[in-house]
Amino acid sequence: MPRHLSQLLLVVMVNCVLLQALSVHAITRHYKFNVVMRKMSRLCSTKTILTVNGKFPGPTLYAREGDNVLVKVVNHVPHNVTIHW
Ligand SMILES: *[C@@H]1O[C@H](CO)[C@@H](O)[C@H](O)[C@H]1NC(C)=O
Repeated sequence: MPRHLSQLLLVVMVNCVLLQALSVHAITRHYKFNVVMRKMSRLCSTKTILTVNGKFPGPTLYAREGDNVLVKVVNHVPHNVTIHW
């Protein structure tokens, strides 16, 4: 086996071990985002804006390194939206 190939293989194997070590306590965290229009009052004016679960800005997602985060987004408004975080 050429030297550089065996070094590459070692790096891949070490990475796998590290990933396994990191994932020992990893869990999957489930969140559901309902995208809805909601009347919000800010600075004495009321506007209807896009919210996630009735909140703007949307909810905070909590996760630890190595966790999987699964977010189910349900769009309840009649146009397409994008989600950023
Ligand atoms: C939303 O996006 C999809 C995929 O691009 C498109 O087919 C659909 O027409 C869009 N709907 C609206 C209401 O713009």
